[in-house]
Formats: sequence, structure tokens, C-alpha cells
Amino acid sequence: MNIIKLDATPSTNDFLKELLTNQFVENFTVVTAENQTSGRGQMGAKWEVEFGKNLTFSVLVKDVLTEINSIFHLNVLVAVSIIEALEHFNIPNLAIKWPNDILAESKKIAGVLIENSLKSNGEIFSVVGIGLNVNQKNFDELPKATSLSCILNHDLDKEAVMVSVIQNLKRNVALLQIGEYDKFWQTYNKKLFKKGIPMPFEGNDGIRFMGIIQGVSTYGKLKVMLEDDAVKTYDIKEIQMLY
Ligand code: BTN
Repeated sequence: MNIIKLDATPSTNDFLKELLTNQFVENFTVVTAENQTSGRGQMGAKWEVEFGKNLTFSVLVKDVLTEINSIFHLNVLVAVSIIEALEHFNIPNLAIKWPNDILAESKKIAGVLIENSLKSNGEIFSVVGIGLNVNQKNFDELPKATSLSCILNHDLDKEAVMVSVIQNLKRNVALLQIGEYDKFWQTYNKKLFKKGIPMPFEGNDGIRFMGIIQGVSTYGKLKVMLEDDAVKTYDIKEIQMLY
């Protein structure tokens, strides 16, 4: 496994993307940093963690996106790979909050930011950025977040957790490439946070409404049953779960 370990960098996703513009980078190369000074989250949010306590890493996945496999397929694989690793470390009550937050005991334990670029030779490179809370204990500022050590009451070897996620991802990408998407999608749906439970949502028009999550379509749209029993599908820009 090719792992580039950094003390500090603005963002491991940016570091890996920059590397890609300058040189050949092997598939599944990993960049990890003890500290990110400008870590980025979904929807332009920041990703800030306690220095040295948690995992912030990015993995290069080449050419997994094809006409058949969409960005969401990779998203599903990454979420399931993280869940499998956390299960291996005996973390109970894991769930996936659509589209790709990983929750443990209803609190966020990991987040994923995938960025894709098309090379001039037609290859698509996906930079899979993962922030995973491992040994941070204090979440006073982030009451909806947790870490492995908060749940297990002991510290863990961060690298062992990271290697487990990457090994799962490698294996799962190989399975996706031979057409085995369905079982990952089924696991994703099984683990979907608040499935079947009435929840408040907000649409992109700012209007709030109640709905019940039914599941996620194969291409990643959230299926929500509304108060008139009609089921509507939403993409990520159209709806936000108020949780
Ligand atoms: C989110 O839940 O909003 C996504 C968080 C993604 C954070 C990771 S940490 C490693 C990689 N580098 C970044 O700048 N962001 C991702």
C-alpha cells in the first residue's frame, strides 16, 4: 500500500489532486495528514478536527466511474467500506445518513468528500477524502459528533483503522468492476439512517415538510413518502434532512 504521510497540509484531497497534475500516481495511493489546516467538507463546509487525534486521508481510485457506474456508486462503496471497517473494530449501531455521513449511535463518526477529474486521455480519477474520528474525546463544540474512542472507551491505532478502510475499499472496487453493485446498494439501504421514520425535511425553496424515507434509488436519489402518501425522489441539491 502506497501511503504518503504528512504532518500538516491544507487538505489531503488538494495534496493528492496537486500530485496528480505533476506525476504518475499509482491506483489506491493514500495521502494522510496528522493535521489539515483547511480541511474541506460537503457543500463547501469546513472539516476541522483536533490535531493528531483523528484520521484525515484521501485515496486515489482510478477509472471506477464508467457509463454504468456513477459517482453515487463509488459513494455507496466508500460508505459500506467504512461501515465494514468500523464493524471490524466492534462499533455498534452504525448507520448511513444520506448521502454519505457515517453515524454511530446517531452521531457523526465519519464524513466523505469525493472529487472527480477527467484526464486528457479520458481516464477519470476519483479522489476519495475521508475524515474519520478515532481518538478525539471532546465534542463539546460538536454535540452531534462522536469518535471510536468515545464509543469503545479506549484509544485505537489510527493507521490500523485506515488500512482496514482502504483494504475494504480496494476489495469492493474490484467487485464493483465485475458488476457486483447490488449487494453494496442493499447494504447501504439497510443501514440508511431514519428509514421508515417520520422526519422533518427542508426543500431547496426553504419550505419545511414531514416525510418518511423509503430508501435510495440505484443512482442515489432519496425516496421520501410525503404526507399525501405520494413517494417523491430528490437529489442531493433538492432536499436536506433536518437532523
Ligand atoms: C463531510 O462530511 O462534510 C465530508 C468531510 C470530508 C473530510 C475529509 S478529511 C480528508 C479529506 N480532505 C479534505 O479536505 N476533506 C476530506
